[in-house]
Amino acid sequence: MKLVILGPPGAGKGTQAESIVEKFNIPHISTGDIFRENIKNETELGTKAKSYMDKGLLVPDSLVIEIVEDRLSKADAKDGFLLDGFPRTVQQAVSLDAFLDKMGTNLDRVINITVDPAALIERAVGRRVCKTCGATYHIKFNPPKEEGICDKDGTKLIQRDDDTEETVKTRIQVYSDQTSPLIDYYKAQSLILNIDGNQAIDKVFSDIENGLKSK
Ligand code: AP5
Ligand code: ZN
Repeated sequence: MKLVILGPPGAGKGTQAESIVEKFNIPHISTGDIFRENIKNETELGTKAKSYMDKGLLVPDSLVIEIVEDRLSKADAKDGFLLDGFPRTVQQAVSLDAFLDKMGTNLDRVINITVDPAALIERAVGRRVCKTCGATYHIKFNPPKEEGICDKDGTKLIQRDDDTEETVKTRIQVYSDQTSPLIDYYKAQSLILNIDGNQAIDKVFSDIENGLKSK
């Protein structure tokens, strides 16, 4: 299954991605995670990306497209993948289509998670993440068993640098200006699976599972 998961910051893309990739046994390709890994390792790409991410702005297409194509060229992505956080501009979507076409393949579905704007800020600001395994928690909606500690590996949870209220507001605006046009782009290809992301995490996942079965 070749999938894209789309939705504003804090919609629950990463949270749902964890369950989807486990169920379908496909790699989770998150451009945000790739950039954060590069920032941690202090690479040149990481330094460039950080200057945009800290402001809540998009990293330029020229930096993003190449890393995704490299990743999609790896053997484990041959039979399926879940792209999370990419594409984010029409230019990125056009490049992805051209790349998949060249590989003789195409996307199966684009999962579009919608959430009331008021909830997005609370979700992002209350998010805590594990730097070791990438697991995502929320202080109120999805707390770990022991406060501030990852259930899976005991690592101390941290807050992302771009999860301040001010930066989240910028990210939501950037989503609305630059990324939301992708919904029409993929509607025109009959790929969109709309999912109500205002529900509990498990219910959102069962809607995704059922929706993916229906085509
Ligand atoms: P990225 O890492 O992709 O961040 P994002 O799109 O802003 O999305 P988030 O990770 O904030 O949210 P999410 O939808 O995954 O929500 P989550 O599941 O964690 O990108 C970061 C930056 O990198 C960008 O700003 C940009 O600078 C750069 N970048 C990345 N890709 C790029 C690209 N292609 N082009 C250019 N630049 C790029 O959930 C959020 C919280 O809510 C969690 O705490 C979770 O526990 C909780 N939660 C989840 N679901 C529910 C629910 N149903 N009910 C209650 N709480 C819930
Ligand atoms: Zn962990």
